[in-house]
Amino acid sequence: MKTEILKIDSLKPETDKVKYAANVLKNGGTVVFPTETVYGLGANGLDEMAVKKIFQAKGRPSDNPLILHISRMEDINKLVREIPPILNTIADCFWPGPLTLIMKKSDIIPKVVTGGLDTVAIRVPRHNTALQLIHFAGVPIAAPSANLSGRPSPTSAEHVISDLSGRVDIIIDGGCSQFGVESTVLDLSKDIPTIVRPGGITIEDLEKVIPTVKLDEHLLKKVEGITPISPGMKYTHYSPNAEVFIVEGDANTVIDKINKLCLENKKIGKKVGVMATNQTIDRYLYGQVLTLGDRTNLDEIASNLFNVLREFDKMGVDIVFSESFETEGIGLAVMNRLIKAAGYKVI
Ligand code: TXA
Ligand code: MG
Repeated sequence: MKTEILKIDSLKPETDKVKYAANVLKNGGTVVFPTETVYGLGANGLDEMAVKKIFQAKGRPSDNPLILHISRMEDINKLVREIPPILNTIADCFWPGPLTLIMKKSDIIPKVVTGGLDTVAIRVPRHNTALQLIHFAGVPIAAPSANLSGRPSPTSAEHVISDLSGRVDIIIDGGCSQFGVESTVLDLSKDIPTIVRPGGITIEDLEKVIPTVKLDEHLLKKVEGITPISPGMKYTHYSPNAEVFIVEGDANTVIDKINKLCLENKKIGKKVGVMATNQTIDRYLYGQVLTLGDRTNLDEIASNLFNVLREFDKMGVDIVFSESFETEGIGLAVMNRLIKAAGYKVI
C-alpha cells in the first residue's frame, strides 16, 4: 500500500487537505492524525471492515479495544446505552482534552471496536486538525495510538512514518504532540469512577470534580491473578528494543548506581544508554546519555519520554538505565509508561 504524507498547519489546518483525508476515512480508509496527546491511527468507528484495518496495520491483538473520537459532546448520545449522571460535569471541565471515558456501549458500535466488551471508550481531543477531521468525516473515528503494537506511542510524524509507512492510506504530519503521553482513561461504567490509565488529566484534577475517583491498582505494579480492567494494560507496551531498568533512590545514589551498572555492562560488551535529566546529565560517565528534560518540569519529561525511548533504538543501545520520577500530577503517567517499558524491572 502506498502511504500519502499530508503536511498540515496544526494551528490553522488547511480545509481542503482535511476534507480530503476525511473523505478517505468516510470511504473505509485509514488516516493517521495528530492529537494533543500522541498521534492516532483512525478509521470509521462504525465500519467493521475499516476498523479491522487498524488492527492489521498495528499488529494489535483483537481483544484490545479502541477509543472512539468525536468532535461534539452531543454525538455521544447514540454511542452509549446510558449517560452516567456525572458525564456532563466531567465533559464541561475536561473536554475537549486528554481524557477518555468508558461507558456502556450502544448496539450501533461494532464489536470489533470494543474487543467484545459491552463498554466503549470515548474522547473529544483538543487539537484543531483532529477535531476538523472528525467533523468532516461525520462519523466517530476509532483510533489507537499510531505505533506498531508494543512500540512507544508516536509523538511526531517521523515516529509514525517509521512504524506505519506502507501500512496506512494517509499520514497527516501536524508537528510534535503537546502532552506526549496518551489520554487518561476513566471508567465510568462501574459504581466508583476508576482511572485505568493515567495521562494528561491527572487524578488531582479529577478529584476536584469527582472526590470518590480511585486509581486501578495495576498502574504501577504487577498484580498477580487479577485481570486488569483495561485490556491494554496486560500487554507489554512502550518498549524500545533495548532492555530498560528503572533505578530508584536519592539523586546521588542513583547516579552512582547507574555509573556502576553501565561500567559492568560495557565490560561485557553491551551498548549502554542512560535516561537522565538536565540536572544530572553531566554526571554520567559511560554510554549514550540522553536527557528527558528539566526534572522539576514533569510536563516536559512527559512530552520527551517516547521520543527518547525511540532515540535509544536508533542508536542501537542494548540496555538502558533510567532515573525515576515523582508520581504526582502527570508524573504518575510518566512512571506508569516507564515501568511498562521496563517490564516492571525497578532496581
Ligand atoms: O491519547 C490517547 O488516548 C490516544 C489518542 C490517539 O487519542 N489513543 C490511545 O489509544 O492511546 P490506545 O488504543 O493506544 O489506548 C487505548 C487504551 C487501551 O489501553 C485500551 O485497552 C483501553 O484504552 N480501552 C479502550 N476501550 C476500553 C474499554 N471499553 N474498557 C477498558 N479499557 C479500554
Ligand atoms: Mg497505544
